[in-house]
Amino acid sequence: MRIWSAASSSGQEAYSLSMIVSEYFQKRPGSLPANAVQILGTDISPTVLEQARSGIYEGVAASRGLSEERKRRFFNQTETGWQVKDDIRKRVSFRELNLMQGYAALGKFDIIYCRNVLIYFSADLKRDILARIARTLNPGGFLVLGGSESISSYSEEFELVRWRNGVIYKLA
Ligand SMILES: C[S@@+](CC[C@H](N)C(=O)[O-])C[C@H]1O[C@@H](n2cnc3c(N)ncnc32)[C@H](O)[C@@H]1O
Repeated sequence: MRIWSAASSSGQEAYSLSMIVSEYFQKRPGSLPANAVQILGTDISPTVLEQARSGIYEGVAASRGLSEERKRRFFNQTETGWQVKDDIRKRVSFRELNLMQGYAALGKFDIIYCRNVLIYFSADLKRDILARIARTLNPGGFLVLGGSESISSYSEEFELVRWRNGVIYKLA
């Protein structure tokens, strides 16, 4: 399974996904090969990508939305902050990418997270980006947006799926 965190900023989403994958493997040992899931984070900003690659977060950032137990399990405390452990980092990579440019070099994904970035683009660019995201998903793949975002005015290539308290989009 390949997961893309588009506009990953400093990597919290990508690493959180890797932590969830680790918890899945712990509950179902041997169910999938250890390298069955790959996560790619991309962003336009080299500065945030540098932090993402370091996997180091200051205390408040490392505690936001994370239980103390998970923080201890998934991070090492260092002189400069809390660093994501190697077994979480090993399935995550980062590269620079402008969402206004092509995605073909990335290959295909099963799930794409594109949260809280479409807001920066005009309606035409949103349509263009969503069309290219659709072409970057494997059949039946999912697109996850930010909690208050909707693509209904910009794409007809996805069907809305209600999931727990929110919605996700499935490639139609
Ligand atoms: C508000 S943050 C959202 C980060 C993360 N997705 C989240 O929901 O927390 C927006 C991110 O989009 C990135 N960004 C802005 N324009 C972009 C573009 N054209 N291509 C790729 N990333 C872009 C910014 O560098 C920033 O990291």
